[in-house]
This record gives sequence, structure tokens and C-alpha cells, in this order.
Amino acid sequence: MKPAAESNSDPATNTLPDDAAGSSPLLARIEALLSQMTLEEKIGQLTQVSGNQAQTGPLSLASADRDGLRSGRVGSMLNVLGAHYTRAHQEEAMQSRLKIPLLFAHDVIHGYLTTFPVPLAEAASFDLQAIEKSARVAATEAAAAGIHWTFAPMVDVTRDPRWGRVTEGAGEDPYLAAQIAAARVKGLQGRQRGDTDAVLATAKHFAGYGATVGGREYDSVDMSLRQLWETHLPPFKAARDAGAATFMNAFNDLNGVPATGNRYLLRDILKGAWGFEGVVVSDWASIGEMVSHGHAADTRQAAELALNAGTDIDMESSAYRKHLPALVAEGRVSLALVDDAVRRVLRLKFELGLFEDPYRFSDPAREKALLGHASHRHAAREMAARSIVLLKNGTRAGRPVLPLDPALKTIAYIGPLVKAHKDHHGAWAVTLPEVDCEKFIVSPWDGLRQRLNGHTQLLYAQGCDVEGSRRDGIAEAVAAASAANLVIACVGESAAMSGEARSRSRIGLPGVQDDLLQALQTTGKPLVVLVNAGRPLIINSVAACADALLYTWWLGSEAGHAMADVLSGDHNPAARLPMSFPRHEGQIPVYYNHFSTGRPRQASVEVPWAGGYIDVETTPAYAFGHGLSYTQFAYADLQLDRPRMHADESLTVTLQLTNTGPVAGDEVVQLYLRDRVGSVVRPVMELKGFQRVHLQPGESRELRFAITRESLAFYNDSLQCVAEPGWFDVMVGASSADIRLRGSFELMD
Ligand code: BGC
Repeated sequence: MKPAAESNSDPATNTLPDDAAGSSPLLARIEALLSQMTLEEKIGQLTQVSGNQAQTGPLSLASADRDGLRSGRVGSMLNVLGAHYTRAHQEEAMQSRLKIPLLFAHDVIHGYLTTFPVPLAEAASFDLQAIEKSARVAATEAAAAGIHWTFAPMVDVTRDPRWGRVTEGAGEDPYLAAQIAAARVKGLQGRQRGDTDAVLATAKHFAGYGATVGGREYDSVDMSLRQLWETHLPPFKAARDAGAATFMNAFNDLNGVPATGNRYLLRDILKGAWGFEGVVVSDWASIGEMVSHGHAADTRQAAELALNAGTDIDMESSAYRKHLPALVAEGRVSLALVDDAVRRVLRLKFELGLFEDPYRFSDPAREKALLGHASHRHAAREMAARSIVLLKNGTRAGRPVLPLDPALKTIAYIGPLVKAHKDHHGAWAVTLPEVDCEKFIVSPWDGLRQRLNGHTQLLYAQGCDVEGSRRDGIAEAVAAASAANLVIACVGESAAMSGEARSRSRIGLPGVQDDLLQALQTTGKPLVVLVNAGRPLIINSVAACADALLYTWWLGSEAGHAMADVLSGDHNPAARLPMSFPRHEGQIPVYYNHFSTGRPRQASVEVPWAGGYIDVETTPAYAFGHGLSYTQFAYADLQLDRPRMHADESLTVTLQLTNTGPVAGDEVVQLYLRDRVGSVVRPVMELKGFQRVHLQPGESRELRFAITRESLAFYNDSLQCVAEPGWFDVMVGASSADIRLRGSFELMD
């Protein structure tokens, strides 16, 4: 089962080579410092504590622990924000004997002061450049506020929308998630380590967290190793290959062994086969939680298991600092392993230039100049518009309902989220103590009001709350709708309903919002619905009563402007769903790249003895990759430059794409493959390429996709990555359920 090692690390422990001293100036400096450190100081480097400017988990230590900072017993901190505060804490650390600077980490998940769409929404853009840029802006602002290290990107593949943390990832597909993981790592880490507009990235949560049983938070994960390698590891490998400086454990157990103490994951795969030379940080208190898992008898044994398994830094469980001294003295943890972990941490600090200037990131002038910079807001608006998915666009009086007709005299803007600010941030918003973050978020109301600029009258009614059963506002909403020419409803979840510890068993619209929409529909006015949420919701009844439907997720600081850009047609929507949307909770997990089975699913529930359910269709309500536009595209002329290929060759697929509609727009062209026969069964289709292409009306372009061995390979029953000879189907289309062109080729022996 153990994958072949690629690195030059010690094969027994997969530690960094220890003959490194003197082999480079950097390594020589690390060794020189290490040789001066006491065991307590070494363990200090492996100890991370939380400050008190944000709280992202249950605190277990006295926050800030000033004594620990001054005595070198803390190596890094999370939740300390801002040039001023990071500097103040660094000054404490500079009083320690060896003056080893602290690393400041924070969860900068989708922006710092300027926030971008939640990661799942950004994934919908299928736009790697824009995603990288979003991460660049986040890094620029965070680094200007003294942050060295972000706990992002989350690269867990997610197929269960009941799990609240789907909002932090890139959805259900390993290929898309891997591309996005690499883009985010590049964007966060910038050109080179040590630049003051870049932060260290963390690929998290290693591994399997996206597959917790029943979508329940912090639950178990039980999956075959083949499934792990095929579906869940590719984005982590992509993050590692893109140079991610750190990895974070996951809270879950994987096949019975908590990820935090999982040697197979950390020593065999990450530090072994993948040759990862960076730092592994535990998740919040996850070392101590191995006791609750029932994997360690006490925190002492948990510390032993975690360090030996390859977890370098203990975030907030204090297990390392309490127990490593004795564990080392007794030989239960070797000093060599402690040294290896410390080397990894020190290396990052040297590379960031902190030994030259521990305050180089804590610059109030840069912080003032960069946070919320106009160019950042501009990028956030563009990214937000690029993330909005058009799910339906019906016609009224022979004209599509969207974009809005500029001649409309009165629009009623209705719903509990129309005037919301904070909700549009989504989960993991940074809250800065001295900044009114709310004023940084443009509400849907303000965005549309500015865009209409008085030409169209806007009426408002809240209608109902996001949650709860009060219906007394519905009559007022109906009255406003009746007085308007068109109604826009802004409904969904509140931000606090998705994210960590926000699993939901029912994922329809909460409260009485469905009733509000039904009531608005009775007015007979054209009804446009914007659904704001951090996860895929079940929206069958919404779609049934809406003339037009936009999935607007949580879009961040520029939410209202971006919504107005799309409603007005200033921006033609092109985003695509990165997760399948179920029709019913009972279908979950529903994902496009499933196996065929011996009795393949049929679209109709009527087919006897077929796979699926008898009471709900097997297809999702909206398929992976689905999304509409204000224009149309024609796909033609699929060509393969050869009918067969060898594994060391590349095959080129070409096709002609034409914008046949009335306006300019982007199309996300998706290439899927099916391996018809495998030694282990293969999915009915797998995404292997995509391009977001901009075309003017009437414009045509030839698109090219390369198919290589990598596109064809998979993990066989012995976990070897193989490309097996045989026939492959090529499918190119506008979504996984809208294939426009087909071809096939043979992979030769
Ligand atoms: C989350 C991590 C996060 C950490 C620090 C944990 O609860 O699972 O994703 O990075 O807290 O805030």
C-alpha cells in the first residue's frame, strides 16, 4: 500500500535530510540556531496559541500567553491581527533568549478587509486567473496587516451539501478542485517567499474531511484508499506541487485513525512519497481531541502519536508543551523527530526574512494604504460578478426577463437579504477591531439603487425573516410587488448557516421564504429570484415560481454591485455550478462522476429494476457545470488529431465555438472523458479540461484541448497510477448534463 518514495528524505521517518548542515547558507543558519536551542525552546517552536482578536475555536490556553512569548515557549500565534498588534506581540518574542520571531497566522479564507466571494462561489467562476488574483489581493492585504501565514486554501473535495464547510472548498470534482488549489496557492504565496505582499499558504484539511459521514461536522470518514487517492488527494497534491508552505490536519479520523495522528497520511504520503519539506500544523486542538476520538488514552499519548505521525505544530491543544519534554526524555519521541519539525518551522521564518527584521510585515503605513484599496474592490466586484450563476431565464411578452429592461418604471426589491450587509460576507469574514466592516459590504439594495440611478423607481419590503415563522410582513411585500412592473426577491441562508459547525439536515430555503415567494408569484408580476447561500440549496419550488433565477452565493464586499452588474446586463453571467444541486436531501450524495453500476441509473423513475430511487429522479436538479448566459453558443466540428495514441503521446481535441446570440459573453467549455473498460470500474464521465472563453456576438473561435497520459491515468486496485489501454469517449459540452459533441479514441499498449 505504501506509495514509492520520491524524496531524498530519511526513508524510515521521512524527515528532512540531516546531513544538510552547511550544504546551503540557509540550512547552515538553521543548524547553527538549532544547536543553541534547549529542548523547551524547540518545543516552543512547535507550539501555536491563539490571540484574542478573533476566536475560531474553543480556547484552551490563556490567550496571548505573554510569559510564553518572552521565554520562547510559543513559536506562532493565530488570531492576532493588524500591524499594531502583531508588532506588539513580536516585541514580546524579541525579549526571548534566542530572539526567534513569531509567525502570525490567520484564516484569510476569501479576502481580508476587502472580501471576495466565498471559495465555493469563486470556484463557480471556472476562472483560474481571477481566482489567483483574488488570492493575491487577500495576501496583499493580510501581509500588510502583519499576517505571515493563512490557513487557506481548503482543498477538501465536497459532495455533501449538508456539510456546512462546502462553502470553503471548490466543490465535488477532483480535477477542478486541483486546478483551483494550485491557483490559490500561487496567488497567496506570490512571486517568492519573503515578499511583503505574500503569505504562506496551507492546504487543508489533510485528509478526507470533505467526506464525513452524513455531512455531519467533525464526523468520521470511512473510505477505500483507492477513493482517497482518486478523489480526495489530487487537490492536495496539486497544492504541494504549487509550493504550498504548510499543510493542516483534519479533525476527522480516516478509516479509524485520526488524521492528526495518521502516519500513513503524514509520513508515508505527504512527507514521504510527495517529499513535502514544509510544516504540518494540527487543526485547532486536534491533537488533544485524539483523546475524545478514543485513539489516545490521554493528551500525553496524543502528543506522542501526533509528533511521531508527522504533525509538526500543535495548534491550541498544549499537548506538545506539556508532554514532549518527558516523552523525549523517555525516548518515546526521538529528539531527531523534534529537530526535524523545528527545522521546518525555522526554515519558514528564515525564508520570510524575519530574522533580519521581525517587524517587516507589521507596517502601519502599508496597512493603511492597502486595506480596502480601490483596485482591490474593483477585483472583488469583477470576481463576484464572475461567480454568479444564471439558473433560469424565462420570457415575458416575448423577451427574456433578464437582463432588466431599462424601460421598467418600478421594481419591487423584496426579501430578508435585500438590505443585509454582513450576511453577504459569508463564513470566515475577518472582523477587525477598529473597523466597521459592515460599511465595506455593498448590500443588494445599495448596489441596484446606484445602478438604476433614479431612472427606475425602487420599492422595498422585507417580507419575512431568513428564519422563523412570522408571516406578517408578506402582505406588505405583496402590496409592493403589485405596485411594481417587476419583482426581485433576495432570499436564502444567513451567513451563519453555512461554514464550520453549520451542518444542516434540511437544505431548503429556511423559514417562510418559500411562502413569501409563492405569495409574490400570485401577483402575476415577472419574478426574479436571487438565492444567497454558502452551499447548494434545494430550490425546486423557488425555480418553479421564479421567471428568472440567479444563484448569488455569498459574494463579499462588492456583493450588491456585482448583483446589479448582472441584473442590468453590464456583466453577462457565465459561472457554472461546481457541485451538483440535489432535488431532495435523500439523494445526497449526488455527483456527476459516479460509476455506471451493473444496472445503470435511468432518468425516469418508471424503468423497472433500474438503479436509483422509485420516488425521486436520480438526476440532480442542476448538474455539475451547469449555468446559463444572456447569449447562446454553438459547438461544432469536434476533431481528434489522431484516432489512437500511446501513453507517452498527446492527443489534441479541437472544436469550433460560436457566439450565436445577441450579446458578448463567456462560455465555459468543458471536456469530459470516459474510460470505457478498466481493471477497476471508471466513472461515467470525468472532467479533464475546461476553458472560459469570451466571444463577441457572431464571433467564432477554434478551441484546443490536449489529452495526455495524466488525463487517462487512475489508481488501480494496487494503488498504482496507471493508464490502461482501451477505448475512451470524449465529450465536450456546456455542462456535465449538456454534452454537445462526442468522439472517441484508443489508448494503445
Ligand atoms: C478549522 C480550521 C481553521 C482553524 C483555525 C479550525 O476550527 O477547522 O480550518 O484554520 O480552526 O482557526
